[in-house]
Amino acid sequence: MCGIVGYIGKRDSQDILLEGLKKLEYRGYDSAGIAVFTKEGLQISKSKGRLAVLEDKLKGEPLAGSVGIGHTRWATHGKPSDLNSHPHTDNSAKFSVVHNGIVENYLDLKDELAAKGHVFVSETDTEVISHLVADEYDGNIVEAVQRAVARMRGAFALGVLTEFEPEKLVAVRFASPLVIGIGDGENFIGSDIPAILEHTRNVYILNDGEMAVLTCNAVELMTIEGATISKEIFHVDWDLVTAEKAGFDHFMLKEIYEQPKAYRDTMLGRVSDDGKSVDLKELSMSDEYIKSINRVHIVACGTAYHAGLVGKSVIESLARISVENDVASEYRYRSPIITPQTLVIVVSQSGETADTLAALREAQRNGARVLAITNVVGSSVAREADDVITTWAGPEIAVASTKAYSSQLIAFYLLGLHLARVLGTQEPAAMEELITGLNALPEQVEKILEQAVVLKQVAESISHHRSLFFIGRGVDYAVAQEGSLKLKEISYIHSEAYAAGELKHGTLALIEEGVPVIALVTQETLYEKTLSNIKEVKARGAHVLAVANSGFEGEVAKSVDEIFAIPKTLPILSPALAVIPLQLLSYYASLALGHDVDKPRNLAKSVTVE
Ligand code: F6R
Repeated sequence: MCGIVGYIGKRDSQDILLEGLKKLEYRGYDSAGIAVFTKEGLQISKSKGRLAVLEDKLKGEPLAGSVGIGHTRWATHGKPSDLNSHPHTDNSAKFSVVHNGIVENYLDLKDELAAKGHVFVSETDTEVISHLVADEYDGNIVEAVQRAVARMRGAFALGVLTEFEPEKLVAVRFASPLVIGIGDGENFIGSDIPAILEHTRNVYILNDGEMAVLTCNAVELMTIEGATISKEIFHVDWDLVTAEKAGFDHFMLKEIYEQPKAYRDTMLGRVSDDGKSVDLKELSMSDEYIKSINRVHIVACGTAYHAGLVGKSVIESLARISVENDVASEYRYRSPIITPQTLVIVVSQSGETADTLAALREAQRNGARVLAITNVVGSSVAREADDVITTWAGPEIAVASTKAYSSQLIAFYLLGLHLARVLGTQEPAAMEELITGLNALPEQVEKILEQAVVLKQVAESISHHRSLFFIGRGVDYAVAQEGSLKLKEISYIHSEAYAAGELKHGTLALIEEGVPVIALVTQETLYEKTLSNIKEVKARGAHVLAVANSGFEGEVAKSVDEIFAIPKTLPILSPALAVIPLQLLSYYASLALGHDVDKPRNLAKSVTVE
């Protein structure tokens, strides 16, 4: 996804911009560029490809100057190309714009500007913004940006420079994240905190409809209508080091190994000292409200959606409330039945996913209360939801989500126990047993991680296949779906997840000699049924790897080719363990195939467009 960085100060801006953009690489991008005020005026250098390509270009033709903006682009309007890369400018080349998001009415604006004589060189919506700002300019860049923004529809974060007022950097946030970094004699903008963290820990987090005018020595905050606002400075207390690889070959592997800590951190302070109950004190919803909930919607995208599938089982079994799951991009278009008695839970690692945010707003518009499960404090989802359960997984850099997913599961367990306590739906002994099981999970994950080498060998053999299947029943099916997504996204091997009992209704036709099938067998009440399904695929030549609960590992071993046993836990908690070997399998398969594990093709970490 696109990244923005901007600098205004006394130092040379080129390297600050490039370094800032490097910190945003994890978001995914296909081209990069910077614009700097040089002695010759506002100059732009940009190119398709990785930042290294831009760096090479700048080695030959550096842009010297102490004010600039930079961008990494993830193509939406127009293919990745030098011309479509940001920053963009207008025909006078006196204005320059970097932009994240989408301007929905850009074609109408483009036609109108073209009729006035503006000539466009790219396919992008962003180029239209630079022409629009130029067209609106009559000596005051702040007012020109305000007038331009008032005419734009969509989602955008902007950084704008003009040669006419080189002492100013204008920043706008409208439904796409942007932060302002406050320095000493210098100031910054960034679409994400890591972009500027090397220089300052003091930031303003802009809200939708807010803008900032930066000079070397001041930051003026206002609404996009021009009303002055004041904000508290947010002090970032986490370190860049936590966002580095810490000795692992890839961020993904590091993040897989961080899961025991992520589990402990997410549980910290939420389980009572006597270990008998869970109290999510951060929730503002009253017990009366909880008692009035008659249905829950869990809405999310991708991996977070898969966490929600487990969440459904957790809430239904612990709190006995009916739960529906929705993919966020579908939710508001299916006209869901939402009432004030519907609790809508949105799940988002980044807290910036456009579809999830739109679902949140749709739910609130319909009078529902929204509870967010997110990993990013201060994210849009966190700020707009009525209640938030933060997953304390720490920054997740690899595009493929691992520790954020599993911490979302922990959040669901805690929520299920919280609701069950208020509703009285579980016996005290059952609650205690669950909490004991929860507390044991971090150590059990450590045990699984000690066996990682076994999975490396399995992954290497899987990597020679073009297609494979994941099967399971109940929560095992939910985990199977996450395992399948993980494998697809980083190894590019086709796979499908199936409810084990559903295979024979069509998909069994695809099972032939040697096809790998990964079977999840962790549910005591279902394992005999799953074993029957395993026999169905074995009879057609499948090569079966079972991920099984060690409680019945012996039985399962008789029916499969390979087995990976996870420590014994309660059935509802097993997803928090069973997913770990699947993450490792995907990681090692991707590695065996020589792919870019942390930055898989075509994907972005934070999806801030619909
Ligand atoms: C896959 C992955 C994605 C995200 C999805 C939602 O590994 O990470 O499927 O889960 O894009 O992102 P968030 O959770 O940030 O809303």
